[in-house]
Amino acid sequence: MNILFVCLGNICRSPMAEGILKKIFREKALKGKVESAGFESFHINEPPDPRAVQVAANHGIDISKKQARLFRKVDFDHFDHIYVMDTQNMNDVKDLARKEVDLQKIDYLMNVIEPGSNKVIPDPYLSGIEDCEKVFELMEKACQKIAEKALLYAANN
Ligand code: 4NP
Repeated sequence: MNILFVCLGNICRSPMAEGILKKIFREKALKGKVESAGFESFHINEPPDPRAVQVAANHGIDISKKQARLFRKVDFDHFDHIYVMDTQNMNDVKDLARKEVDLQKIDYLMNVIEPGSNKVIPDPYLSGIEDCEKVFELMEKACQKIAEKALLYAANN
């Protein structure tokens, strides 16, 4: 199962989510591509924000080699699920959807934990490292759920 995480800058939230899920996929020997992307061009090809790198490292995950990239339409062809962090990301990804099957791949990451809630993972960019940690913990819960779904999918396919 191929999973793409999307946030605005692709330097805080989605690279942490990518790192978390990659680790879980490795631990559970799950097959699939896990990546992240954003919509803001300021940080293209840059590594994640130092706070995100630090928080991930505190949890044993190295995201320092990730380079920010933009979301592109072809991502709809390469990923089974596209998880967004907030309403702005949702609107940005939806705007690029070409057909119904593309739209069906998009969901709020928080809906994995609280289905139908459409809650957002807040942007920690302008706050402190403590908020990065809170966001990390939320996303870790969501990633555990995604891995459970991926395990079920793998068992049935
Ligand atoms: P992210 O945080 O979407 O979680 O990567 C942000 C990082 C950078 C900016 C906005 C949000 N920015 O405007 O540069």
